[in-house]
Amino acid sequence: MEYDKQRSMLKVFSMMIMIMMGAQAQAQLSSDFYSESCPSLFHVVRQVVHRAVAREPRMGASLLRLFFHDCFVNGCDGSILLDDTPSFQGEKTAGPNNNSVRGYEVIDKIKLNVERLCPGVVSCADIVAISARDSVLLLGGPHWSVKLGRRDSTKANFVAANTGVIPPPTSTLSNLINRFKAQGLSTRDMVALSGAHTIGLAKCATFRNRIYNESNIDLSFATSRKKSCPATAGSGDNKEAILDVGSPKRFDHSYYSQLRDQKGLLTSDQVLFNDGPTDSLVVAYSRNLNAFYRDFARAMIRMGDISPLTGSKGQIRNNCRRPN
Ligand code: HEM
Ligand SMILES: *[C@@H]1O[C@H](CO)[C@@H](O)[C@H](O)[C@H]1NC(C)=O
Ligand SMILES: *[C@@H]1O[C@H](CO)[C@@H](O)[C@H](O)[C@H]1NC(C)=O
Repeated sequence: MEYDKQRSMLKVFSMMIMIMMGAQAQAQLSSDFYSESCPSLFHVVRQVVHRAVAREPRMGASLLRLFFHDCFVNGCDGSILLDDTPSFQGEKTAGPNNNSVRGYEVIDKIKLNVERLCPGVVSCADIVAISARDSVLLLGGPHWSVKLGRRDSTKANFVAANTGVIPPPTSTLSNLINRFKAQGLSTRDMVALSGAHTIGLAKCATFRNRIYNESNIDLSFATSRKKSCPATAGSGDNKEAILDVGSPKRFDHSYYSQLRDQKGLLTSDQVLFNDGPTDSLVVAYSRNLNAFYRDFARAMIRMGDISPLTGSKGQIRNNCRRPN
């Protein structure tokens, strides 16, 4: 009797442990998540990203940024891809995204091709993560093993996207550090991830104050930027300039050399090298390409780990633009 009771208690106890371990295993992302269920996934994503970037190199930058803006708002859950619905406002029109985040059509195209081969299996959130990785590689940057197994959200968070979760380009260094810290990312991660500004463009409205009002800026750089960015707010707001004047289409470390020359385009770029605690990292990355690549890849994996929906949470959307 007593023995049976002990045995059944032991059984219940070990079952509880197994359930707990199962839940933990589900909460972990892994690089081989789709190796059985969708073996051609990487090939399909790479093919579409490759074509899109061949057509327009900037698309690589846009897809990388799309991943960042997805992950910082409620985690990497594909929420940024949702269009407005009668029951919620999407994130696409939030301040940092409106008329600025690009690449939605490329994600749609990948999803379409993936659904043909493995219907209902691969999340939009994971497609965004793989696209960002492939974009960096295609533009000459580092490779990393991207972790997968995220599921898609059923709603978006306009308010979070609109109110500073994504740091503004006018950020101070401590603001940047705190915004990344709030996502579980270190100052080192933040400085390495900012190196993404080695590619892509920014609109005049995002750097006007910097080129007209700041003193920690190279004079000839400011002068040349002013030519296509008028001082008056509202005029020429959408005129674009390259973020890294060193090598705008190559994913390298010239961004950090530009910062040392006071040629950071955004205030949030130049604060990384402005007689502060991150100066030494900027110098290190400007000198050592491999150190930058190593830390960037590491930080991308860490950013990809922000609050994923796993297990039975969320869903695998059929269409990345709307919940099922
Ligand atoms: C550290 C804080 C950051 C701030 C304040 C910031 C801000 C900005 C701003 C204002 C733009 C220009 C948008 C426009 O004018 O349309 C931009 C572009 C871009 N950002 Fe960031 N960003 C930050 C971090 C990141 C991170 C972590 C990544 C990715 C890992 C990233 C990737 C990019 C890319 C690739 C572009 C160019 C996009 C394109 O050309 O379509 N940024 N960023
Ligand atoms: C987004 O941009 C459009 C076009 O510039 C503008 O009409 C709209 O009001 C903006 N949306 C939000 C929510 O600010
Ligand atoms: C420069 O700073 C002043 C004072 O803060 C502000 O009124 C003005 O709009 C700024 N100019 C630009 C071009 O941002």
